Amino acid sequence: MGRVQRPARLEGEIQLPPDKSISHRALILNALARGEARLQNLSPARDVQSTAACLRQLGVELGQGWIRGRGPEGLHQPSGPLDCGNSGTTMRLLAGLLAGRPLEATLIGDASLSSRPMERVAEPLRRMGAWVETSPLRVVGGRLRGAEHRLPVASAQVKSSLLLAGVQAEGATTVWEPAPTRDHTERMLAAMGADIAFGAGWVRIGPSELCPLDVTVPGDLSAAAFWLVAAALHPRARLRLPGAGVNPSRAALLDLLDQVGVRLRRLDQRRCGAEPVADLEVEGGVGLQPFQVGGELAAALIDELPVLAVLATGLTGTSRVTNAGELRVKESDRITTIGEGLRAMGATVRDAANGWEIEGPVQLRGARVSSCGDHRVAMALAVAGLVAEGTTEIVGADCVAVSYPGFWEQLEELCSRTG
Ligand code: S3P
Repeated sequence: MGRVQRPARLEGEIQLPPDKSISHRALILNALARGEARLQNLSPARDVQSTAACLRQLGVELGQGWIRGRGPEGLHQPSGPLDCGNSGTTMRLLAGLLAGRPLEATLIGDASLSSRPMERVAEPLRRMGAWVETSPLRVVGGRLRGAEHRLPVASAQVKSSLLLAGVQAEGATTVWEPAPTRDHTERMLAAMGADIAFGAGWVRIGPSELCPLDVTVPGDLSAAAFWLVAAALHPRARLRLPGAGVNPSRAALLDLLDQVGVRLRRLDQRRCGAEPVADLEVEGGVGLQPFQVGGELAAALIDELPVLAVLATGLTGTSRVTNAGELRVKESDRITTIGEGLRAMGATVRDAANGWEIEGPVQLRGARVSSCGDHRVAMALAVAGLVAEGTTEIVGADCVAVSYPGFWEQLEELCSRTG
């Protein structure tokens, strides 16, 4: 169980965990390439370990800091089901990878992952010529033909899955998204020599041989979000987060915090391979304004919405999220789970079908709350505990290891340092 109390101050430097999305892609794309790549600062998170274990089962050689692909033909028939654990990214991206190979594979996961929608990858992969069943997800791959896809939901996982199929298909594959999503796959494929063109909300890829790519993974901005919100709400906070990935397709959070009135600085903006990074500095704010998130912004902020609900409790007025129905099919139904946790702590949260409305400011009170097995809900409630009166106990706290294994240790260190 995670126990959190409000520290007198929140001050110091936090080493961010490596970006989870980029880590998955560094493994999966290099598994399709021919040759060895060095991987620095790869995420040790459980989800990324699930990807690594599945790739090993497919015959890919990888070890501490390296991976050796033998081209698409180097992937071989797995001897049993591929266990994706809690990781939607692993399951959906591997479905696209496998669709292009003459193999048969079953992809399984934990109870949460087994209940998440997989037709969204199955249907377009079938249109490219693969045989795909869902519940459980079973892929019988083979020769694919390129296709034009207009996706009904904005999902970087679905887009990436189709790009992994497209790179192995005959002819071009085009994906149109209803709202732009993270473009890490596109950037990495371009750096590996793929025949690819992309912009906000669209991407086109042709059959390509991939060169191995050394990757140094930047800090995870979705993990930084927890500390940024904690600092924004704490009256005496000053945190420094070096080396955060600030890819524009992920950085809507920074603009939203600016707009709310949080004192946030992006320093030493530079590149880390194909990805932009910066050092972030944030200070506690006063007179912060409520926010409205809807339309395309909801897709851009999808992983940050649980912790933005915590932020909303400290803002003067009504903050509103709409067009975020995808929250209901994440690791938990995040509209329900974050609402339950925050209401138990005294917040006024009104759930809606596709979002929520939160009245602030309220002084949160410590309570016993549940992560519902969802890493981002656990960490968002921990942030609520950092600004609440009294003690907050988070049941099911260990699930943070899915994306951020050192989270509780860092939180404890930060609180003990600053009293
Ligand atoms: C991810 C895409 C998003 C996000 C998830 C990671 C990725 O999921 O929520 O945490 O790495 O591509 P969707 O594609 O389902 O929106």
